Amino acid sequence: MKDIDNHGYTTPTSIQAQAMPVALSGRDLLGCAETGSGKTAAFAVPMIQHCLAQPPVQRGDGPLALVLAPTRELAQQIEKEVKVFSASLESFRTAIVVGGTNISEQRSELRAGVDVVVATPGRFIDHLQQGNTSITRISFVVLDEADRMLDMGFEPQIREVMRNLSEKHQTLLFSATMPEEIEELAQEYLTKPVQVKVGKVSSPTANVTQTLEKVPESEKTDQLLALLVEEASRVEGTGHPFPLTIVFVERKVATDVASRGLDVSGVAHVINLDLPKSMEDYVHRIGRTGRAGSMGQSTSFYTDRDMFLVANIKKAISDAGSGNAVAFATGKTARRKEKEAAAAEKQARVASKSSIAGPTSVNIEDKYRFMFADSNNKKEGAADSAWDD
Ligand SMILES: Nc1ncnc2c1ncn2[C@@H]1O[C@H](COP(=O)(O)OP(=O)(O)OP(=O)(O)O)[C@@H](O)[C@H]1O
Ligand SMILES: [Mg+2]
Repeated sequence: MKDIDNHGYTTPTSIQAQAMPVALSGRDLLGCAETGSGKTAAFAVPMIQHCLAQPPVQRGDGPLALVLAPTRELAQQIEKEVKVFSASLESFRTAIVVGGTNISEQRSELRAGVDVVVATPGRFIDHLQQGNTSITRISFVVLDEADRMLDMGFEPQIREVMRNLSEKHQTLLFSATMPEEIEELAQEYLTKPVQVKVGKVSSPTANVTQTLEKVPESEKTDQLLALLVEEASRVEGTGHPFPLTIVFVERKVATDVASRGLDVSGVAHVINLDLPKSMEDYVHRIGRTGRAGSMGQSTSFYTDRDMFLVANIKKAISDAGSGNAVAFATGKTARRKEKEAAAAEKQARVASKSSIAGPTSVNIEDKYRFMFADSNNKKEGAADSAWDD
């Protein structure tokens, strides 16, 4: 409690209020809540409690709890958070096990015995294979951003871990987007999970004011500069610092690694210089602002290429405005469909340009209906509709 207090939290967020008692009761959990809603503490606090209830870790023992996350940066952030929540527990030890860092340091840390390991799946398996740690004592597993881990091809590693766990363990799975692939994994590895869903699944958070601006490719940089100058002049003389801004680009290197889970405090504005390819990435990107109940702003530049996604964003904005947010289908199947529909849309646009009869009107609503979980296409929205129990 003292450590929660030290963190400056006074009241739990909705996902915390609902997920923590479930996690503390020992049940498996499928937790879904919008970006920035405090999912990390929702699993970190019960995880620490769980560890404290176990016989202490001895030298040579494997950890009691394991958190798997898709990227090094996210794992590092989670481990920091776990450290904060266990700061007053003198003998409580955590280890971070990720690629791109010194493996021998990790090895000695693991061999000495730790309570919690926060890891990316690949590096954790490396250590298991080298015999640096074991999973025999793990009785609490968290899969954070589980859908992203599947996307990144970590499914074999996750399965390897899950298959070898001791009989008596508890598994928690968290994300702001829940595609149907996750349902399969959950069915296989979670035992009668309690599903905690807060708000509408897989939709942009309502805490972000979203702006869309059509900007030709060649003018994007100028427009970005203009936007930043405008921001600077707005704060000039007010004594406020320049609002912290993240700019996402989609050039040779995709920047979406930064879009998942990272909690940079005080981000006021997310700019998509280029839009991502899917609604799912958009939801996570703009979710870097408007966190922990604060309000944020996003500006997305778009070109004709993005018309399909733009139609969906507009729909999300208007539905959120009417208090009737839609749940978007996410995951591999949804992304493939998005790509196909975007290509079809492009083709229709080219065809209508060359048509003597003038542009054909495309009914976006019907054409893109499969995107919405509330539509009659149950298969695509299965992951989302499955939440409505
Ligand atoms: N009960 C609380 N009171 C105040 N602030 C909180 C509370 N719980 C979490 N926070 C803060 O909210 C921010 C977002 O938390 P967190 O990163 O856990 O969100 P998330 O739901 O995991 O988001 P994402 O889907 O983007 O990963 C953090 O800065 C965290 O410190
Ligand atoms: Mg998170």
